[in-house]
Amino acid sequence: LKERYLGGIAEAGDEAALEELRVAALGKKGEISLKMRELGQMDPAVRQAAGQALNRLKDEIDAALRAKKAALGDAALDERLKAEWLDVTLPGRPRRQGTVHPISQVTEEVTAIFADMGFAVAEGPQIESDWYNFDALNIPPEHPSRQEMDTFYMARAEGDNRPPHVLRTHTSPVQIRSMQTHGAPIRIIAPGRVYRMDMDQTHTPMFHQVEGLAIDRDISMANLKWVLEEFCRAFFEVEGVELRFRASHFPFTEPSAEVDIRCSWAGGSLKIGEGDDWMEILGSGMVHPKVLAAAGVDPDEWQGFAFGLGIDRLAMLKYGIPDLRAFFESDLRWLRHYGFAA
Ligand code: PHE
Repeated sequence: LKERYLGGIAEAGDEAALEELRVAALGKKGEISLKMRELGQMDPAVRQAAGQALNRLKDEIDAALRAKKAALGDAALDERLKAEWLDVTLPGRPRRQGTVHPISQVTEEVTAIFADMGFAVAEGPQIESDWYNFDALNIPPEHPSRQEMDTFYMARAEGDNRPPHVLRTHTSPVQIRSMQTHGAPIRIIAPGRVYRMDMDQTHTPMFHQVEGLAIDRDISMANLKWVLEEFCRAFFEVEGVELRFRASHFPFTEPSAEVDIRCSWAGGSLKIGEGDDWMEILGSGMVHPKVLAAAGVDPDEWQGFAFGLGIDRLAMLKYGIPDLRAFFESDLRWLRHYGFAA
């Protein structure tokens, strides 16, 4: 019996075979267990010796099983180590890294430049009530610019009594919110997304603006001009930037000016500060007294300027990108081509 089991254990090739042997010998109905049970019917004189012998046999088989199991485990580990070896001296495989989107990057640059001039950053919601987006900015319900703006209106359920909401068409509502919260004097910029139903090479239904607002006791158009020129010099890193202030009209500023930057697209590459082309980059003006009043700021005491810069336009100009739509298609080949992705 002993030889049979010890021999079997020595030859067992895996843990399953070992387990089979264990059950056959020591399991509930195993050969040794049965013999143990038979001890009860034995003559007391033989029983003691037989009992001791059986116990010894049981211990031996048990020990052999354990030893073999450990050996099998070691062998399995050796196998695995052989199969799974790793050459730690190999150089790592390169991984593509995520990068900052050009629009985010330009937004950060713009914010940093204005921060140097003392402008704090303000924010407002992208879903805006029509009061903030229009009325408070001196655009009454029947005003034609409500149509011109190609506004996205939020759908309203029957019986919904909340005021109408829109996807903000510009960042100007943040002027109102900031003045309501902080009063005057105030100097803020407000970068963010805006929405209009428009789509061609230079328009996308979602685009980005930075609003600027400076209100104090004696702020003038001259301050506006200096701030914008200083900004363009810093942003385009061109000493000779040239801006053209064109008289214009916005309901929320008086007087109003649109500002173009001198540039040239000659030879397919863009140069700032030279050539005969002008590209519009922003709208601006002196904040209308009605707008100050709507935001709770006394127009007899305070005055100042506001501007709205197109961030996407700035990015197009800075990186010489002819088609605005590409910014929002997330085409990695395009982003890589312009160096915006690894
Ligand atoms: N809100 C205007 C637009 O989106 C830009 C603007 C802002 C003009 C502030 C004047 C003052 O076109």
